[in-house]
Amino acid sequence: MAAHTATSFTDKVLVSDEVAEFSPEVIDEMKAHVAKYPAERSRSALIPLLFVVQRERGGWLDNPGVNFLAKFLNLEVTDVWETATFYSMFNLRPVGRHHIQICKTLSCKIMGEPEITDHICTKLGIHPGETTEDGKFTVTMVECLGSCGTAPMMQIGFDYHEDLTTEKVDKILEACK
Ligand code: FES
Repeated sequence: MAAHTATSFTDKVLVSDEVAEFSPEVIDEMKAHVAKYPAERSRSALIPLLFVVQRERGGWLDNPGVNFLAKFLNLEVTDVWETATFYSMFNLRPVGRHHIQICKTLSCKIMGEPEITDHICTKLGIHPGETTEDGKFTVTMVECLGSCGTAPMMQIGFDYHEDLTTEKVDKILEACK
């Protein structure tokens, strides 16, 4: 199966001044997050708002979405990018409908991560960092997801899948319709 060319998080970001627009319902949701913090600390809402923008922009943070947040929170655009680029849960490029994040850190590594990664990538016909041609799956390697006691593990969307075996992986992928 062919795959899109992989891009890394350090690839150039296409910068534009375009500002994303959101529905009144989404704006209300964002305001509700901001209201949880003291007025002078509204930037503390940045991470929950990045999640909202990522969801609304099709699963990743594009330039117009980031520009919107900078205006909304009265921040510099670079302030928003600083946070967006620090955390692996924020996607800086389009991802598939099922974003598989495989932990590559020590506990997972010694408990079988390489075999799990090979199995998943062979099955999907892609390499880490790539998306299947049908846009269904993206595989990303990430650092420790804090579930070392149940290594090897991976995250798909917001769900953790732990104590992975190749048989377990097959069932998980099968369930991803
Ligand atoms: S090392 Fe994989 S979850 Fe911590």
